[in-house]
Amino acid sequence: MNAGMNILQLPERKIRREKIVMVTCYDYTSARILAQSDVDMLLVGDSAAMVMHGHDSTLPISVEEMAWHVAAVKRGAPKKFIVGDLPFLSYRRSQSETVEAAAQLMKAGASSVKLEGIAGNEDIIRHLTHSGVPVMGHIGLTPQSVNTLGGFRVQGSKDEDRQRLKQEALACERAGCFAIVLECVPETLAAEITAQLAIPTIGIGAGAETDGQVLVMQDLLGLNLDFKPKFVRRYLDGNKLLLDAFNQYAQDVRDGSFPASAERYAG
Ligand code: KIV
Repeated sequence: MNAGMNILQLPERKIRREKIVMVTCYDYTSARILAQSDVDMLLVGDSAAMVMHGHDSTLPISVEEMAWHVAAVKRGAPKKFIVGDLPFLSYRRSQSETVEAAAQLMKAGASSVKLEGIAGNEDIIRHLTHSGVPVMGHIGLTPQSVNTLGGFRVQGSKDEDRQRLKQEALACERAGCFAIVLECVPETLAAEITAQLAIPTIGIGAGAETDGQVLVMQDLLGLNLDFKPKFVRRYLDGNKLLLDAFNQYAQDVRDGSFPASAERYAG
């Protein structure tokens, strides 16, 4: 079993150019499999709202629901480094409400929290890190701001946006983030941001030059046929494999071949 990594190893991993591997995870059974894997970090992302609960954005999920997912993942992968997403607006009301939200995720088993954007978040990032809560930043496409961004689309294509994102990355580092996610930005911009920071960058749709990569588990496993942006690589034809298994089971029940004699209790 791979015991996962310690937060103190992250800067060395960046210096040694050893890639950091993160994948999303939301449930106990998947976490048990990931606990045996070489993946470094598990992200209990608020993408749970979409891939686990069927919403069309990440906005509806609550802190309580996120804590419930974090706790399940922690039970399945107790030694892995777990990042818990602070959901939409949970870190924008007041310092005490943010601390309460972070406390719920940390007490559920998160090793750190993640929050989106930097404008207006500097003080809370500082306060959380000084309070013993490591914070991962997230810039570029920040799905909680889908309504202000006008959709899920690549960020940082215009020069003024590139400059702003570079400043935002530096501000995350200054505020105390231990790493940042760069989502859906051009590869050259991700490379420049990665080079200007001492903390690692973890990319999704940000090319090959970041210090690590993250993918949503359902995308990586081919469980979500409706979603195939160019940055997703499917490592399994999961939808087909599961569908074939369910249909085989249905057929076996109907033709009487399940349960076989070895699958019945005698007596
Ligand atoms: O919620 C999530 O899954 C994320 C990743 C896309 C980085 O934030």
